Amino acid sequence: MTVRQIVRKRGRARENLLVILHDLQKQRCDNALDHGDLEELAEVMGLSVADIVGTASFYSLFSLKPRGRHIIRLCDSPPCYIMGEENLREAIRERLGIDFGETTADGCFTLEPTSCLGACGVAPVMMVDDEIYGNLTRVKVGEILERIQAADSLGAAVSGKEA
Ligand code: FES
Repeated sequence: MTVRQIVRKRGRARENLLVILHDLQKQRCDNALDHGDLEELAEVMGLSVADIVGTASFYSLFSLKPRGRHIIRLCDSPPCYIMGEENLREAIRERLGIDFGETTADGCFTLEPTSCLGACGVAPVMMVDDEIYGNLTRVKVGEILERIQAADSLGAAVSGKEA
């Protein structure tokens, strides 16, 4: 959908800005907001570009730079940290070769730190795309990533592309 179509669908009021940004980012392959889209959005909504960029950069769910197809958000708030967040980070580093702020060479995964995801009762926790995983161990993280990679390969095979 174009910027104008999304604004028409959600409504032009300022209170709809976050959901509009979410829609814009979700439809892009690089999981990021496009500066040209934000300029157009500012014009359509009657806001300044600085206001929109400021809002987008305040929330960790939005990105202004290209990211991988899957976003892994590893909680590094104290309850998760105490329960072994460092161990999980190391497991991801070993399996995918990326650390916080990095994207795999094939563009499949980006790893980001996040503050509390509201699931401290099952710490340590990570979120991959829209799914939250708790009570994680190094083995479980490996299994989750393996499942995602297998699903991507299957999807690529079905569509006739290489993963
Ligand atoms: S501290 Fe990690 S989910 Fe709350």
